[in-house]
Amino acid sequence: ELPKTVRLVEVGPRDGLQNESAHLPAAMRADLIVRLADAGLTHIEAGAFVSPRWVPQMAATAEVMSLLPARAGVSYPVLVPNEKGLDAALEAGAGEIAVFAAASQSFSQRNINCSIEESLERFAPVTERALAEGLKVRGYISCVLGCPYEGEIDAEAVAWVARELRGLGCYEISLGDTIGVGTPGQARNLIRRLARDVPLSELAVHYHDTYGQALANIYASLLEGVSVVDASVAGLGGCPYAAGASGNVASEDVVYMLNGLGIRTGVDLDRLVAAGNFISEQIRRPSRSRVALARSGA
Ligand code: HMG
Ligand code: MG
Repeated sequence: ELPKTVRLVEVGPRDGLQNESAHLPAAMRADLIVRLADAGLTHIEAGAFVSPRWVPQMAATAEVMSLLPARAGVSYPVLVPNEKGLDAALEAGAGEIAVFAAASQSFSQRNINCSIEESLERFAPVTERALAEGLKVRGYISCVLGCPYEGEIDAEAVAWVARELRGLGCYEISLGDTIGVGTPGQARNLIRRLARDVPLSELAVHYHDTYGQALANIYASLLEGVSVVDASVAGLGGCPYAAGASGNVASEDVVYMLNGLGIRTGVDLDRLVAAGNFISEQIRRPSRSRVALARSGA
């Protein structure tokens, strides 16, 4: 049965912009985030405190944070890979962080330069200190439906990492189809498997749209009882590890689908489309939202 409301987690200013070749100034990143909040989004990833040598697009995340007005009911989570990142997040006044692990050893090595086990050990003091400081901590798992280096990924590996992250105190586990290869039957089976270890209310889906399956995978996940969906305005992003990869599913398209299903999100589609068109113009490339394209008459 479908949920009555869905909470959207907007990841465009982080997952989207981290993969765009255009490196946007902090003021423009903050401008986008404000427009997204104006559209009714309540969870908007603002950036990442990672090594600027690894991801130069996310440098100046502290400056972005400093430009964001505090807003009741709106949070601006940031990604944190280690204690150095946590220090920066605390300094910037973040109220929520996300740690990110993978279900594939090769991807873990390429993304954060350590094994899955080492990453979990590294996250332990991060989550412990963050929780003690009153922050909320979200946990990501990459490659849940496939890995660019290892191919198919066993759902048992995903379940293991999910249990570990939950044990570290993550209030929610976001399941990332990093390279967008999954199909709805796989998504359904993954959610069913994960639900044996993690309450459905603590699971989120984070589907990239590389193979055009993301909306179908979201729908399959909603039918299994998931009610938190990550998406990226204008379908911003890509994946450096998959040739021809597109970004996350476009937020506009998700909202359009949920509206059609009568599921509440609290998001104003017109304002969301406007925010997506704004950022697409800034980075000078067409929106990857089908809804935005349809409405532009292009
Ligand atoms: P490393 O090289 O092993 O780190 O990288 P290190 O501890 O040896 O430090 C090396 C240098 O980095 C040092 O600087 C550190 O100070 C610096 P140096 O002395 O050489 O000048 N450093 C940092 N600087 C700023 N902030 C930090 C930080 N930590 C160390 N937090 C590390 C390990 C984890 C740092 C690196 O691999 C990294 O930053 N990786 C981030 C990769 C990333 O951001 N990927 C994208 C996000 S994940 C994602 O997109 C997937 C997701 O969307 C879900 C899905 O779709 O699957 C979430
Ligand atoms: Mg992602």
